[in-house]
Amino acid sequence: MTKQDKSIDSASELQRRPERSGEAVMPARTIVLVGLMGAGKSCVGRKLAARIGRPFIDADAEIEAAAGCTIAEIFERMGETAFREGERRVMARLLDGPVAVLAAGGGAFVDPDTRRMIAGKAISVWLRAEIDVLIKRTAGRDHRPLLNGDDPRGVLLDLIARRYPIYAEADVIVDTADQPAEQTVERVLAALRARANTEPAPVSVA
Ligand code: S3P
Repeated sequence: MTKQDKSIDSASELQRRPERSGEAVMPARTIVLVGLMGAGKSCVGRKLAARIGRPFIDADAEIEAAAGCTIAEIFERMGETAFREGERRVMARLLDGPVAVLAAGGGAFVDPDTRRMIAGKAISVWLRAEIDVLIKRTAGRDHRPLLNGDDPRGVLLDLIARRYPIYAEADVIVDTADQPAEQTVERVLAALRARANTEPAPVSVA
């Protein structure tokens, strides 16, 4: 399915509306930020949500709240497979909730069921980043079990090779460099507006 085909069934996702704030993007669907650890999903997501007046939800925090422990503890006590099952359930619940900006964990979009749900119910935005940006942003943090080994760069490079072709299925792709999150927010908004403006008009079937 091409990007153009894919956009047809989500034609009314965004409407342009002049608002008091001057902001012109008002999503009718949840915006899901996807991408690797360190891409800036939570930071950009929080600011994007404030800009468009929607709640911000961090999927990792929701998983931790549901499990009553940290992601590192879930990995340690129950293993990655159990974490992925929990992640799938939490994502399904969040995607059925009110329209929001949702920062997904780096692995969520890789799961075919979750990806299908996102395609049906939300707009996905891939925050694409180069390896050095990811390294810089994840260094010195120990809450991500996948990066706590001896070779986080090797792990990230492997994930880039395996996941980037999948993230590329996102509705919108925005490159993020080592720049303030506000600039990335502007790029996301511009990409969403451009997408809304090239969408065919919604077709109503009686
Ligand atoms: C993971 C990314 C993490 C978290 C978990 C696994 C991944 O989220 O869900 O540690 O598989 O890429 P962030 O991308 O928000 O760091």
